[in-house]
Amino acid sequence: MKKLSILFTALSLLFLMSCGGEGTKKADDSTAVKEEAQEQAAPEANDVAEAADYSAGEAIYTGKGICSTCHQLTGEGVAPAFPPLANADYLLADKTRAIKQTIYGSKTPITVNGVEYPGGAMTVVDLTDQEVADVVNYILNSWGNNGGTVTVDDVKAARE
Ligand code: HEC
Repeated sequence: MKKLSILFTALSLLFLMSCGGEGTKKADDSTAVKEEAQEQAAPEANDVAEAADYSAGEAIYTGKGICSTCHQLTGEGVAPAFPPLANADYLLADKTRAIKQTIYGSKTPITVNGVEYPGGAMTVVDLTDQEVADVVNYILNSWGNNGGTVTVDDVKAARE
């Protein structure tokens, strides 16, 4: 009978140990899930930060710069009068030219995504170097555009 109770004790110890093992493993799993959740949340947080960065430019685009009256809130423009900025080969090909266009407009006709637009038709508003940089960064990075960024120094250089 004593042998049996020793065996029983040993068995219950084994059982307890295996339970303990399970418990620890479960804790590990939930930590892993939490870490994964944090990793997934991180890029979203970055997106929000980036969107915030271009909000000054968006305000110029729809406000003081009056860009949206011609190029539209969607950046799609109104062909054949106002060229698109969304997915526009002309805009995305040359950042310095985009700055100059924003400050001065074009004196000569230009071709955007295969459509020709007459020059001299863009109403330009007096903007500070910071405002030009903000609005150019906004149009370079909106509506699916991934056109990089410009600095206030780039705008200063383009003005000279
Ligand atoms: C009165 C209408 C009008 C307004 C306002 C306007 N644009 Fe334009 N935009 C045009 C036209 C028309 C062209 C074609 C070239 C030209 O005539 O200068 C053009 C061309 C462009 C181009 C180069 C072509 C392309 O589509 O890639 C960019 C970049 C641009 N505009 C940005 C802006 C920004 C930024 C603003 C606001 C600060 C603005 N525009 C305000 C009418 C306008």
